[in-house]
Amino acid sequence: MLTSKRIMTMAVAFLSLSIGAQAGIKPGAVWPDNRGVHINAHGGGVLKSGDTYYWFGEHKADTTSSAMVGVTCYSSKDLENWTYRGVALSVSDQKGSDIERGCILERPKVIYNKKTGKYVMWFHLELKGQGYAAARYGVAVADKAEGPYTFLRSGRVNPKIWPENTPKPDAEVLTSALNGNPKLDWWTPEWMEYVKKGMYTWRDYDGGQMARDQTVYVDDDGKAYHIYSSEENLTLQIAELTDDYTAHTGRYVRVAEGGQNEAPAIMKRNGVYWMITSGCTGWAPNKARMFTATSIWGPWKQLPNPCVGPNADLTFGGQSTYILKIADRPDTYIFMADIWRPEHPSDARYIWLPIEFKADGTPVVEWKDEWSMDDLK
Ligand code: GAL
Repeated sequence: MLTSKRIMTMAVAFLSLSIGAQAGIKPGAVWPDNRGVHINAHGGGVLKSGDTYYWFGEHKADTTSSAMVGVTCYSSKDLENWTYRGVALSVSDQKGSDIERGCILERPKVIYNKKTGKYVMWFHLELKGQGYAAARYGVAVADKAEGPYTFLRSGRVNPKIWPENTPKPDAEVLTSALNGNPKLDWWTPEWMEYVKKGMYTWRDYDGGQMARDQTVYVDDDGKAYHIYSSEENLTLQIAELTDDYTAHTGRYVRVAEGGQNEAPAIMKRNGVYWMITSGCTGWAPNKARMFTATSIWGPWKQLPNPCVGPNADLTFGGQSTYILKIADRPDTYIFMADIWRPEHPSDARYIWLPIEFKADGTPVVEWKDEWSMDDLK
């Protein structure tokens, strides 16, 4: 016989099941976690460990885009239903800490290092109270995917090292230009020439290169790379990481000098690298860009926007953050982007869309109101 207590228990179980069960993926919609709460992991990325996917991202507060909590972690077996796993990297309450509560901590990505058995998290860090001036990378490590992560260090990239794909700087000429001789107005062809020559790379030579929007990528041979917007967001840089993935080796190149690319997301398919980026319009969406190369070191060739369908010219209202390769499904890649809500940051939404490929291999991202991982089987 069903007692009223049992009926209650069954009702609660049913309710939590129906809250937890997400039918498919609905780009742009509220995406409830196992508790029925909209997933709070923005500017994020996904890592697979064993048979579990871990989604890391920025925790966003309701009224500020500053980091009040840190980096959150969610886990899933099917990429559709996500369980909240807590705060993977917590901001600090220690005054003056690089990651003090109220700093800006964006676009965290985690990679796993087979040699050390550690999970390594890289992110964009801005020191508290300094707006976006610090332009640093941050790095943290953990023994378990979900953390807790221990903050190691933040800084600028590769001080006193010149990028290997730019001719040696004429120090006198660049220093003089930085001091206003000749006087260069932004966006004039002459200024752009100096940007391409590495005027800002040179300006930051001693202290290290700026690092803002970023991702990290592990190649098939186990080598990892940090890809970040540098030089006042004018130029992307790709820097090799050490064998333990926690530092830069000193080897780096500049990509699309003066092209103003942000939000880099990268994948490799049949030996060819593809990188999707955005332009620089802050939280407002713009038209995605795409680049391709057969070596991570370039040369990188720019291609048109890979997005098609309604609102494709504004990346469907979003900004790229990551490309997830599904290891156990042939040829399956998912484009991940954020629809920012600067007035209500925690309500920012996610765009996840499967990437399709033209006959010549060019990726295409087509809008879908709703789709399921089962569609990709
Ligand atoms: C975007 C960037 C975001 C965030 C924002 C701040 O362009 O991609 O990660 O930094 O600017 O305005």
